[in-house]
Amino acid sequence: MSPINNYYVEAPLGVGSYGSVIKASKNGNSYALKFMNGYPEYRHPPTSEQLCLFLHEQEILQEISDSRIPKLIDLFEFNNMLFMVQEYIPGTPLSTQILQGKIFTEVEIKDIIEQLLAILIYLHTPNQGKQIIIHRDLRLSNLILHNKKLFLIDFGLAIRPYNSQDLTLPEPPTNKTSNHNASSSYIVRRRDHSLSNDLFGAGLVAVDLMDSRLAYANSQGKPVCSADFSEFIGKLLKPASGYQTTAAALAALCKIKLS
Ligand SMILES: Nc1ncnc2c1ncn2[C@@H]1O[C@H](COP(=O)(O)OP(=O)(O)O)[C@@H](O)[C@H]1O
Ligand SMILES: [Mg+2]
Repeated sequence: MSPINNYYVEAPLGVGSYGSVIKASKNGNSYALKFMNGYPEYRHPPTSEQLCLFLHEQEILQEISDSRIPKLIDLFEFNNMLFMVQEYIPGTPLSTQILQGKIFTEVEIKDIIEQLLAILIYLHTPNQGKQIIIHRDLRLSNLILHNKKLFLIDFGLAIRPYNSQDLTLPEPPTNKTSNHNASSSYIVRRRDHSLSNDLFGAGLVAVDLMDSRLAYANSQGKPVCSADFSEFIGKLLKPASGYQTTAAALAALCKIKLS
């Protein structure tokens, strides 16, 4: 396959609702190249909604500088297609690890949720010109675990709640769910523009990770999740009685001792 703007294609990484991602290398470094689906195969240009989400993601990534989130490297047009170049995160998404049969222990799940909340504290805190960012699409396929370090990707639906333009973004597609069916309350929570959306998302990630333990724990006659941790996850999922800030949620999680 001929290179794309001097990027040599190595492997497909994923196909999503509006974009595809490939691994490519340039000058010995690896990158993730994101581009829009259906083009140029069907020779139709992207819809304005697709273009809007695509450009929005690069705008959000431009504001972020954190080792746990891929850096935006470049945006270019090649053969009438738009490509976004991101830092390549090695490792595999949590969704793939579960499909490959990985069973996470409760301690590992607690560590993942602690790391996730720490990333969210960075996003939810304004500093050095960066506005608050709500990710709004926390799910296993958007979390990569590599050498026990967690990375958060896919900022296509992220918003800056004080940026009025972001509030006019197309709503997240309703068929994009976690492992569970989309209930009406799920859809309402996913569209929410407040940080409680991400606390709910962190709760869903915890539920999906616990879900993968179900058959194993049952076969061992052990509980899937201990009482304190289960109460904590329940509180993430219920904002009215839940945590007011991401820092409060992390502090509560750190107090839980698992045997
Ligand atoms: N920067 C990156 N580094 C490594 N893999 C990535 C990166 N960005 C995306 N991927 C891979 O591509 C998949 C789809 O990318 P994502 O940004 O989540 O797009 P979508 O909006 O289609 O879900 C991810 O689940 C992950 O496997
Ligand atoms: Mg994704």
